[in-house]
Amino acid sequence: MIDLKKKINVCEPLITKNAKKYINDCIDTEWISSAGKYLEDFEKKWAKYCGADEGIAVTNGTSALQVAFKSLNLQPGDEVIMPSFTIISCATAIIEAGGKPVLVDCYPDTWCLNIEQMKEKINNKTKAILVVHMFGHPAEMDPIIKVVKRHKLYLIEDAAEAHGATYNNKRVGSFGDLACFSFYANKLITTGEGGMVLSNNKKLTKKIRSLRNLSFRSDRRFYHTEIGYNYRLTNMQAAIGISQIENLKNHINIKRKNTFLYNKIIKKMDLPLRLPSENENSKSVFWMYGVVLKNKKLNAKILAQKLANRGIETRPLFLGMHQQPVLKKMKLFNNEKFPVTEELSRFGLYLPSGLKLNKKKIDFICNALKDIFHESRK
Ligand SMILES: Cc1ncc(COP(=O)(O)O)c(C=O)c1O
Repeated sequence: MIDLKKKINVCEPLITKNAKKYINDCIDTEWISSAGKYLEDFEKKWAKYCGADEGIAVTNGTSALQVAFKSLNLQPGDEVIMPSFTIISCATAIIEAGGKPVLVDCYPDTWCLNIEQMKEKINNKTKAILVVHMFGHPAEMDPIIKVVKRHKLYLIEDAAEAHGATYNNKRVGSFGDLACFSFYANKLITTGEGGMVLSNNKKLTKKIRSLRNLSFRSDRRFYHTEIGYNYRLTNMQAAIGISQIENLKNHINIKRKNTFLYNKIIKKMDLPLRLPSENENSKSVFWMYGVVLKNKKLNAKILAQKLANRGIETRPLFLGMHQQPVLKKMKLFNNEKFPVTEELSRFGLYLPSGLKLNKKKIDFICNALKDIFHESRK
């Protein structure tokens, strides 16, 4: 039987006293909807932190991707190259904006998109590249930017999982024409639900602000010349966001410290797992502690069940876009195969990685893994 009091959650946020203070201020001043000083501040502070000119706060990371792609004015047949290993929001945002997602596999170490394959997929229909900074590790930006410039493509970053990560000392979110973030509760900073698009491109940010707000026009109220959405974030959510930015440095330190501790213990135990690593030119924020089984006797589903039996919660890794029934039905990916993605989905999972995780829990989890591997050898 699992002692629920002892259950180790896969993730938990860290909410500070200031979150309460700022939310109370919203309530006291009655600025509870989608305007107010926290909202303006949150957009400005997040853009500045990441090194972009402007931020447009939206309801979540999925809607950030939706308005980002919608702003590009994609035409039928336009292609966007993206990684197969990611969340479905990436593919659906491209499809909803009228484009066609074209997939490439990812690297087995960073889990970010494979640049050689990306180059091979470029043709005269390619309009944009979507890079996803996966599990906190930045994609290899220099070669990507070179290709994007040579072919005059848009570059979109999905930095939902990589708040504060750097590539050559530059923060993610500052490389693309547009960069999308999620502030869901499991992200490095959270607003409960929330998202943002960052950009230096005034034309695109103007369009995205309008798309976020039903495409209202400033010259004539309730007269619409384009389809828009209500993706407005509230002042109260932004108030939480401000308190989170104040603590982000601490959150990054916790994630990095726990990753290195897990790595040290697992290496010492010599467990058959591929562990998170970091390229020399990058600083990962190790969003979640993701591991991949080296020994294919077990798979991630079985391991997750065995850990759950010991009160340890985990999550599977993404299922590739080419394996999604809903996308396959649309005859999108021509039965293509992406072996690294497939390996990650089948043999990878992430272990508890919350901001309240401590050494005692990490020791407990690693010992549980050791026992499970020992038993599976019998
Ligand atoms: C890489 C990536 N992009 C986008 C999203 C979508 O964000 P949201 O859940 O806020 O819609 C997620 C979700 O967690 C994600 O991991």
